[in-house]
Amino acid sequence: MNAPLELTGLTKVFDTPAGHLVAVHDVNAQIRPDEFVCILGHSGCGKSTVLSMIAGLEQATFGGVVIDGREVREPGPERGVVFQSACLLPWLTARDNVRLGLARTLKLSRDIAGTRARHYLDLVGVGELADHLPAALSLGTQQCVSLARALSTEPRFLLLDEPFSQLDSLTRFDLQDTLLRVWEETPRIVVMVTHDVDEALYVADRLILMTDGPKATVGEILDVPFPRPRTRGRVLDHTRYYTIRSRVMEFLEHHARQSRSSVLDAVIASRISAVAS
Ligand SMILES: Nc1ncnc2c1ncn2[C@@H]1O[C@H](COP(=O)(O)OP(=O)(O)O)[C@@H](O)[C@H]1O
Ligand SMILES: [Mg+2]
Repeated sequence: MNAPLELTGLTKVFDTPAGHLVAVHDVNAQIRPDEFVCILGHSGCGKSTVLSMIAGLEQATFGGVVIDGREVREPGPERGVVFQSACLLPWLTARDNVRLGLARTLKLSRDIAGTRARHYLDLVGVGELADHLPAALSLGTQQCVSLARALSTEPRFLLLDEPFSQLDSLTRFDLQDTLLRVWEETPRIVVMVTHDVDEALYVADRLILMTDGPKATVGEILDVPFPRPRTRGRVLDHTRYYTIRSRVMEFLEHHARQSRSSVLDAVIASRISAVAS
């Protein structure tokens, strides 16, 4: 049976003023039903590029993103996305920011969309602030609104690009707990990009470790064996926590540059030279 989400030979070449940049190269992964996966790697290695291709916001140059056996090349309502910053419309209240997404994506009436927006704001713990404008909300609350907006269309896939990286550590811990609670109540595939090893170990079932770019690729995929439901204390006390953490740190410190050559190299080189000549 096909995995619900597959990345097959995913490669992205950007045209830059300095020439062609092979940002990510031959990324392969199969994501299982209801799995929480973190893509982990150094800044600039291509994590957002991979996530954007899964979201359909960027097109793969080679390879593809396959959902239920079908290649996807554009955004779809089954994929909800949360970015590093909340990207809320400043003139709309929290509720209306969520409602707008619902009205656009699912064509719900204003009343029904408003009720559903409030439900998801409640779910992530910020319902009481539904009628506030973004400027009156803390960064953490804004990011909760952004999470509520993504959840409100009830997507099968939640795609998160470093959603907590701009928050102070206590707020980050709170939002990680909120995310885990929401996911444990209604499991679905989550693909979350992060460069925070402890965050990844706390939330994920598996870690996809990316090598450094250019030509970043999957260096290693690790299972995270901690039982669920997770609490920070139980994860930190787990006998294998420090072994796994050390392995990830060692990968990031010493083994990040291990791009593999593949048959795609020849294809990419020939396409690039064809374009150049
Ligand atoms: N639109 C673009 N045009 C050209 N280069 C890009 C573009 N987007 C990303 N890149 C380059 O691709 C590489 C990977 O970027 P990115 O996916 O943002 O990394 P990460 O999310 O891991 O920090 C970087 O070298 C970045 O400069
Ligand atoms: Mg990024």
